[in-house]
Amino acid sequence: MNKKLIFHQLFEKETSTYTYLLGDTETKEAVLIDPVMETAQRDIKLIEDLGLNLKFILDTHVHANHITASGEIRKNTGAKVGISSAYDMACPDLHLDDGQEIKFGQHTIKVIHTPGHTSGCLSYHLDNMVFTGDALLVGGCGRTDFQGGSSDMLFHSVRDRLFSLPEDTIVYPAHDYKGFTKTSVGMEKLLNPRLNLAISNEQFTEIMASLKLPYPKKIQEAVPANLQCGLPLKSEIFSTSFIDGIPAVTPEDLQMNLGHVKIIDVRGSDEYNNELGHIPNSYLATLGPQLDKRLDDEDPKNEIVFVCRSGKRSGEATKMAINKGFEKVYSLQGGMLKWNELRFPFERDMGGS
Ligand SMILES: [Fe+2]
Repeated sequence: MNKKLIFHQLFEKETSTYTYLLGDTETKEAVLIDPVMETAQRDIKLIEDLGLNLKFILDTHVHANHITASGEIRKNTGAKVGISSAYDMACPDLHLDDGQEIKFGQHTIKVIHTPGHTSGCLSYHLDNMVFTGDALLVGGCGRTDFQGGSSDMLFHSVRDRLFSLPEDTIVYPAHDYKGFTKTSVGMEKLLNPRLNLAISNEQFTEIMASLKLPYPKKIQEAVPANLQCGLPLKSEIFSTSFIDGIPAVTPEDLQMNLGHVKIIDVRGSDEYNNELGHIPNSYLATLGPQLDKRLDDEDPKNEIVFVCRSGKRSGEATKMAINKGFEKVYSLQGGMLKWNELRFPFERDMGGS
């Protein structure tokens, strides 16, 4: 291992998850991979005790068995959250793709897209180490039966991508349930019971199809929360839904709760009083610098619904607010077009501010 690298393999015992802390001994810049909500405070304290400056929090994938601490630790450290662009999520700062490089101090992590366990699984390669998430485990691999999983994709990710790394590359998995901490590319090529070099793609598909595993205990809460970087929506009045990974409310739900939530219309000032009108008591803050400033003046704890003509710009506004730390923000589905179609109340005067 590189002498100039600080390395900690940390464990969360309830879900048998490994979190990895990597730091540069000289610049103190650091990266955290796959933190877990239950152990977030432990990780934050370790980072502080070591005097590290956390630059990046990287998730290998949207986990189904635990809630990520990426959003929680971002709030405490200001680090940037990175995850695969394949998920179309609003909360990450970095939407990572294959081949991208992440630099901290004198070290560079290379991103390898290794889909199959989920559609957006990434492995992170640094020197002679690779952090494989659930793509490759010690003597195993992640399941492929949900979240866009595919045994064919996983076969190619492991055999064509991970197994093309030097054989002495140390493999650090996201989980181990038997007490193992690491393995190597060479060892898995030879001994992995599902993916060793003697096994064909057809055999692997049969193995994966025959697993018939129960769904993870926490999947119902973990996946929606992890699509929000582990910070679940805490709406007091709306039921939660997502459109392209962005939290949204239906016009029906908003109409029932008029007066109980702040509404910000993000269209241009000319559109605010056009034939579609605007929702009574909504505020106008056009998407762009005007909205940016408005959000800087708002309390991030406020519950806000963004509105535009069709729902597209309000989705962008919701993303912008989430990136600024708002946790209860939503896009109005279908925008003013749908609102008018449903004959819900609207105004055309110069209200709002
Ligand atoms: Fe997983």
